[in-house]
Formats: sequence, C-alpha cells, structure tokens
Amino acid sequence: MNEENVPRHVAVIMDGNGRWAKKRLLPRAAGHRAGLKRMLALSEHAFDCGVRFLTLYALSVENLSRPQEELDALFGLFRSYFAEETERLEKRGVSLRVIGNADLLPPDIRGMIREKSREEEGERGTLALAIGYGSRQEIVAAANRAVREGREVDEEAFSRLLQTDGMPDPDLVIRTGKEVRLSNFLLWQAAYAELYFTDKMFPDFTNADFDRALEAYSRRDRRYGKVGNDGR
Ligand code: IPE
Ligand code: IPE
Ligand code: MG
Repeated sequence: MNEENVPRHVAVIMDGNGRWAKKRLLPRAAGHRAGLKRMLALSEHAFDCGVRFLTLYALSVENLSRPQEELDALFGLFRSYFAEETERLEKRGVSLRVIGNADLLPPDIRGMIREKSREEEGERGTLALAIGYGSRQEIVAAANRAVREGREVDEEAFSRLLQTDGMPDPDLVIRTGKEVRLSNFLLWQAAYAELYFTDKMFPDFTNADFDRALEAYSRRDRRYGKVGNDGR
C-alpha cells in the first residue's frame, strides 16, 4: 500500500469477545482473555503498518453496569496489561495514553493509569486505550469546563477540552463483532472518519483483517463535503 494512504489515526471498537466465547462454550472471561491477546498483537502490527495513533475501545461507561463477575475479569486483564505491557510499548517508542473517566474504575487501576498514561506522542506513535470511556460524557464535561471558565469556544478550542487533546481526529474507525453502531465512541472526533464494519468477532480479527481494513480505507474518496476527484 502507498505510504500516504495509510491512515494516521485508526480507532478500533473491539467488540465480540463474549460471543466468541459463547460459540466455544467458554465463559465470557475467556473471550476477554483472547481479546487481550489479539489486542497485543494488533497493536504491534498497526504501528508496523505506519499508523501513528491507535485508539482502542476496551470498556465503555455503559459496560460498567455489566455483572460484577465480568467486570472483575476485565479489571484483572487491565491490571496485567498495565503491569506487563506498558514498558514494552515504551521500549518500542510507543507512548501509552488512557482516555475515559478513571474515577469510575477501581482505585488501584486509577493509580496505574495516573502513573502510566502519557500525553506526549511517542517516537513511533501513541496507543490510546479507552477505558471507562463515554463520548457524550466527555463532551458534557468539556462543555461544563468552558462554562466554568466563562468562555465561548470554537471547534478548535472545544477539541482542546476533550480527552483526546493533541491527537488528530481518527481517519478510520473499525468495529468488529457484526454490530453497525458507534456505541458512544469518539462522536465528536469521528465527524469525518471513514467507518469500517466487520462480522469477525474481535478475537478472530487477524492482522491480515486489519490490512484489509486499511486497504478498503485507501480506496475511499474522502470528500469532506466537496465535489469528488472524479466529479462524483
Ligand atoms: C467487547 O466484547 C469487549 C467489551 C465491551 C468489554 P463484548 O463483551 O461486548 O462481546 P459481545 O458483544 O458480548 O460478544
Ligand atoms: C462497545 O461494545 C464498547 C466496547 C467495545 C468497549 P458494546 O458491546 O458495549 O456495545 P453495544 O452494547 O453492543 O452497543
Ligand atoms: Mg458487545
């Protein structure tokens, strides 16, 4: 693929872990474990492809009302991720940034986020992990901050009040797991993102599937409201 056609920022809604497990008669937690394994390999691959920003939707605000047993399994995976993976990312020149409302998470995870999350872009790029994230909540918090500070904002200034401050808008949003919706993910930031949906459950979404999504992206004509290159 032509270098310049590689999306700078790819965001992935990693959906389908539960159904992947169910199909194999496994507990949902096993699906989340398989999802984490896939996420690790995919994050390496994406930066090798030349993607500079990779945002991964791991847990929504709404997901926090799932049964405690499932949440405990997910929190356990986040703990091991922060303990084992962040250094590896750093060594590879990728900086880790966490977006979402950390106040909704267990205190030890909140502490790990505080310790590990960076706002500076890494040499090779940034991996943004969305945990306890909700786009509407993020937008309301930003609006309230502007009100508190007694100022009117334009698009640029408003973007700077969001948790993704400093990151470019996503060029491509991929959702695995067959559903065709955004589920409260980057609603402001994805205003002009290309959307790509696949039936593959996240643990089955291979690096080659990711390449296919990039391939499809490279064929899209991003018009931003203008007349297309071929007059379409
Ligand atoms: C996505 O998989 C991961 C999280 C939302 C935490 P799901 O757990 O939503 O899997 P399905 O949609 O039930 O298959
Ligand atoms: C979206 O998946 C959130 C994540 C992948 C983290 P959900 O499984 O929560 O989405 P809905 O409930 O099907 O919309
Ligand atoms: Mg789901």
